[in-house]
This record gives sequence, structure tokens and C-alpha cells, in this order.
Amino acid sequence: MATRHFLTLLDLSSEELDYLIARAIRIKSELKAHGPDYTPFANRTLAMIFEKSSTRTRVSFETAMAQFGGHALFLSPRDTQLGRGEPIGDTARVLSEMVDAVMIRTFSHADLEAFAEASSVPVINALSDDYHPCQLLADMMTWVECRGAIQGKTAVWIGDGNNMCHSWINAARQFDFTLRVCCPEGYDPDPAIVTAAGDRVSILRDPRQAAEDADLVTTDVWASMGQEQEQSARERAFKGFQVTEAMLDTAASDVLFLHCLPAHRGEEISTTLLDDPRAVVWQEAGNRLHAQKALLEFLLLGHID
Ligand code: CP
Ligand code: NVA
Repeated sequence: MATRHFLTLLDLSSEELDYLIARAIRIKSELKAHGPDYTPFANRTLAMIFEKSSTRTRVSFETAMAQFGGHALFLSPRDTQLGRGEPIGDTARVLSEMVDAVMIRTFSHADLEAFAEASSVPVINALSDDYHPCQLLADMMTWVECRGAIQGKTAVWIGDGNNMCHSWINAARQFDFTLRVCCPEGYDPDPAIVTAAGDRVSILRDPRQAAEDADLVTTDVWASMGQEQEQSARERAFKGFQVTEAMLDTAASDVLFLHCLPAHRGEEISTTLLDDPRAVVWQEAGNRLHAQKALLEFLLLGHID
């Protein structure tokens, strides 16, 4: 069987993604009930290459592997030959000889694709400049856990048309919900990604109008990793795009608020938004662990019934 990778949400079918969400919810409830007694990965190893910072992604993948009875290796370009110019394809071939899967957080999505092309073990995108699909597994899991079926519902993305926004657009395609994307002009998502989603995705300019009657509202930082020098220009451009409690008041009465975190209180969200009961961001962050366990299990072992 050909090696499966997870570089974007489009690498799995809608049915496989639905399976992963249901499986992640089951893995979570079994962990809560019995502790980490399910260890399908004895002696299996995940290599984790981080070219950007991380708290949630590193801790969730490392804990997932430990609880599953396996092991995760943290690899930074500072300490590996990748940082000294060893070609990506060579590194992929070498790691494929030793580990069972590779997780990469990097800048260039094309580099990630090149790595996957040369790898004979599954490669997981743990964030690139263009996508963050693992976060969306946790986000969809959280939405389903809190509200049941999400097909046909309406989510709103407010802020930058960035890697998270692109993955939300792919999620709208794969999980069949409507997504309103509300960005300031000049900060829209990639038009090709929007067009491919068809009429499920629309671009709006007025955040208050976008949030009206929505089932879910989400946002992200205005300057992503690698854009630090644009911080002040972006603060000016995104003025008026802060998500507030008042904005959620115009949404559906059972609206949920998600944020992949880290959050900048007082910038993309009001200082108190994460304390609002409609915000389920700590549950969302915790679900990274369970969703990625389901993903790793699927990529290494296939469906578990
Ligand atoms: N949301 C997310 O990916 O967080 P980290 O950058 O801390 O991994
Ligand atoms: N858009 C953010 C997401 C962080 C998890 C970034 O790329 O920095």
C-alpha cells in the first residue's frame, strides 16, 4: 500500500476525516476512563522537525507517542545537518530508514511536499506557511464534541487569510459547512484555495455582518511566525477586526469561539474573550492530543473498528 501523508486536509477523504474525529472522541473518553493503557505503538518512533516555535504541537505529539507506548524525537535545524544544508530529500530518505513517521513544522509548504515525496514513511504537516491541518482536526473534533453534527452549519473566520484560514477553507470543503471569511483588503486567503471550495466559502469585509447568526466564530494572530517585522503595519490594517463578546452576541445563541492559540489579548481578541463561556479554546488545545493520536494511529495502523 502506498504511504499516506497528511500535508493538508485534502490528503484524506471526507469519510476518513469523519472517522478520525469519531475515533479521536473515543480515544479521549477511553483515556479519561482508564488512563493511558492503550499502547499500540510499542517501540515505534516519530521524528519531529521544528523549524518554528511550538508549545501545543510539540507537547501533544510527544505525549501522544509516549502514551501510545512509542517515542518522539525532537529535531531542531540548529542541531541537525538540515540546518547545515543537507538536502531535504536526503534527510527524508535517511529518516525513513529509521523512524515510523515524521512530523514537520516549517516555513515553505513546497519543502514539506519535497520531503514527503522522498519519504517512505508517513509525513505530517505540523504547520507550514500555507496550512495547519492538525489544528483543524482538533477544531473539528471540538465543534462536534460540543454541538454534534456540523454539516450545513456556518463558521466565520475573522482576521488574516493565513495558514489557519486556508485550513479552515479546506475543512469547509471536507466537512461540508459554510465558511464566511472576513479579512481586511490585501489580507485575503489564496484565491485558488477559495475558488476550489466553491460556494461554501465567501469573502466579506465587515466583521459584525460576518458574525451575524453564525454557529462558530474563529480567528488567529494578525502576524504569524515569520511575519514579526510586519506587526505594526498589520495592527493598523486589522483595526476593527478584533473579535469581541459584543460580536458574538450577534451570532447564534449557542455560538462557539475557537482560537488555535497562542492568542494576543487586546489585538485579535478582546482582553476578556477567552474567559467567556462561549470560548472553548482550552478544550480545543487539549484536543490536539486526542486528534493527533487518531491521526498517527490511522497513518501507521489504518482503521481501528
Ligand atoms: N496552535 C498551535 O499549533 O500551537 P503551537 O504553536 O504552540 O504548537
Ligand atoms: N498563523 C499562526 C498559527 C500559530 C499556531 C502562525 O503561523 O504563526
